[in-house]
Amino acid sequence: MNLAPRRFPLPEDFRRACGDARSQGTRVAFVPTMGALHEGHLALVRDARARAGFVAVSIFVNPTQFGPDEDFSRYPRDLDADVTKLSTAGADVVFCPEPQSMYAPDERTRVHVTGLDEPLCGAFRPGHFEGVATIVTKLFGLAGPCVAIFGKKDYQQLAILRRMVTDLMLPVEIVAHAIVREADGLAMSSRNAYLSATDRARALALSRGLSRAHRAFSSGEREAVVIESLVRDEVAASADRIDYVSVVDADSLASVGRISDRALVAVACHFGKTRLIDNVVLGEDPAPTPG
Ligand code: PAJ
Repeated sequence: MNLAPRRFPLPEDFRRACGDARSQGTRVAFVPTMGALHEGHLALVRDARARAGFVAVSIFVNPTQFGPDEDFSRYPRDLDADVTKLSTAGADVVFCPEPQSMYAPDERTRVHVTGLDEPLCGAFRPGHFEGVATIVTKLFGLAGPCVAIFGKKDYQQLAILRRMVTDLMLPVEIVAHAIVREADGLAMSSRNAYLSATDRARALALSRGLSRAHRAFSSGEREAVVIESLVRDEVAASADRIDYVSVVDADSLASVGRISDRALVAVACHFGKTRLIDNVVLGEDPAPTPG
């Protein structure tokens, strides 16, 4: 039986707990989240547990990364249930601040990672990645030197945060964790809770489409447009609206014509009121669907 993690609503208490662990010679691993935790998040926490003696998780629904028409106010929140899940997964502390302690009324600072925020989700969610980069910079400032685990589910976020850590010389090692999927292939997401049973079934088109791309690549297809249209055809038959289906360089996120060894296939689309994203890195990841 694991001990329940200690909860810290105040930034200075969280900073002190991480600092105390380091001063005892213990490595700190950090998993930032927005809560509504599922197996995808918990896999990151277990990964963190395997890498460090002290595991910190933050739960904060960050207002600055939501657009005015997005789901900030209805985003699922259940701190007690999340803390119970975290005690089984092996977290030591949970940082769960109020918005006013992360954003003072007179705050003026934003972190903007240029260029990498323009393609893919950046084109559809203006300001989103600036909100993410800003809050993660604050969280890293509080956690201090650590290894931080992020999911490949949010691939563009991961690419942006890697660049940010390098450019700002932050004392953080970023680790990428594979996408955790349901048995039928649907990528786990807090937003899956919004899906009706029909939309949940239709959403399987995402992993099916990406698996088609994976099969084509394995059979030798290297033309990005061909792979893109395979995915688009599959997704278009089920989604209400497609934001993008793109094949891009897995590091720079720039479009590619012919794929050499590796490429990211990323998709974002809407099922009812719910926007879902998914991706696969060809030449690196396993196929997204079983069988
Ligand atoms: P959130 O969406 O809660 O995700 C927290 C972390 O869990 C991210 O690194 C995300 O990529 C990872 N994750 C979510 N679903 C996953 C899955 N199915 N498999 C593997 N990893 C998964 O991402 C955010 O929160 C926020 O933008 C945050 C970084 C916390 C900044 O506010």
